[in-house]
Amino acid sequence: MTLNLDVPWVEKYRPKDFDDIVSQNIVINNLKDFVMSGNMPHMIFTGPAGTGKTSTALIIAKSLLKGDHYYRDLLELNASDTVRMGYVRGVIKDFVNQNMIIGEKSLKIVILDEADNIPNQVQQALRRIIEKTSNQVKFILMCNYINRIIDPIISRCAVFRFVSLSKEMIIERLKYITKQEKLKIPGKSSEDFFETLFFISGGDLRKAINTLQSAVALELLENLDINEILKISGFVDKPTLNDLFEAILAMDFIRTKEILIEVENFDSRNFIRQIIGLLPKLKIEQKEIIYLYNFLGKIDYRISQGADEHIQILALMAEIINKMSK
Ligand SMILES: Nc1ncnc2c1ncn2[C@@H]1O[C@H](COP(=O)(O)OP(=O)(O)O)[C@@H](O)[C@H]1O
Ligand SMILES: [Mg+2]
Repeated sequence: MTLNLDVPWVEKYRPKDFDDIVSQNIVINNLKDFVMSGNMPHMIFTGPAGTGKTSTALIIAKSLLKGDHYYRDLLELNASDTVRMGYVRGVIKDFVNQNMIIGEKSLKIVILDEADNIPNQVQQALRRIIEKTSNQVKFILMCNYINRIIDPIISRCAVFRFVSLSKEMIIERLKYITKQEKLKIPGKSSEDFFETLFFISGGDLRKAINTLQSAVALELLENLDINEILKISGFVDKPTLNDLFEAILAMDFIRTKEILIEVENFDSRNFIRQIIGLLPKLKIEQKEIIYLYNFLGKIDYRISQGADEHIQILALMAEIINKMSK
């Protein structure tokens, strides 16, 4: 079996048509009307990562900009790089001004990804650009958190909310790719394999597809090594998680610490997700569970602010053991 792993599968299996976009029926039906009407508004696509925002924007561009125009009249930018924000602004300005200078009447589309990372002041500048451009230039802004976009921009755009994909949808898509790529997955563990990919993805289909492709590239499929897949994705393998569970159950903090120290490539964000899965299996009263969820949020915040991961996670372990019914 020869595999071509050069092409990222997220690109190879990117939806080509509105009908290939799954789970976003409300958005897609409304969009079809707008796009067909010939007078598309500026738009904001908002929602979690890997739910089809970029794919949808590219489909719109493809259907409106025919042939050469697709390359000439589409500008795709990522705003996450705030250092180059001045550059981004400059490029947008030049692009939208082309129409005014040569008096061209052809439609132009600007796709601006991760717009919620643009600092407020720069958003103000962007808003002025949007206001001033001719009717022939349409903006599609994409973001995970719409509350980070300033109101004057929101009010100039039609907002489309992309929803998380269900576990079934993600697994179905992975199975489809598995079939297309003629991958052999040992039958008895195949459900466990797809469940694990879904867990790792956290609902992000791009991540799920990338993990599948990495597993193939690293030849982890032949003797299907699910623990290795968890590890390369920055999660704790199942035996270790199980040991940890036993140690917490025995309220043995020292042992818990020993196990955690042994973990390589520790990723606290991922670890917290695995711990959340353990909580319901421990003997903890409901009100303490709610307390622990809040505490988890605090720990996550502190880590995001640069606190030492290991110390924070150990504090979390201690708190969990504390809250268990004696
Ligand atoms: N709703 C969807 N339907 C079909 N495929 C999807 C969908 N959402 C994501 N994907 C898959 O995940 C990959 C990333 O999607 P993308 O549109 O870039 O997500 P986003 O821009 O929302 O982060 C695509 O290549 C595609 O294969
Ligand atoms: Mg995207």
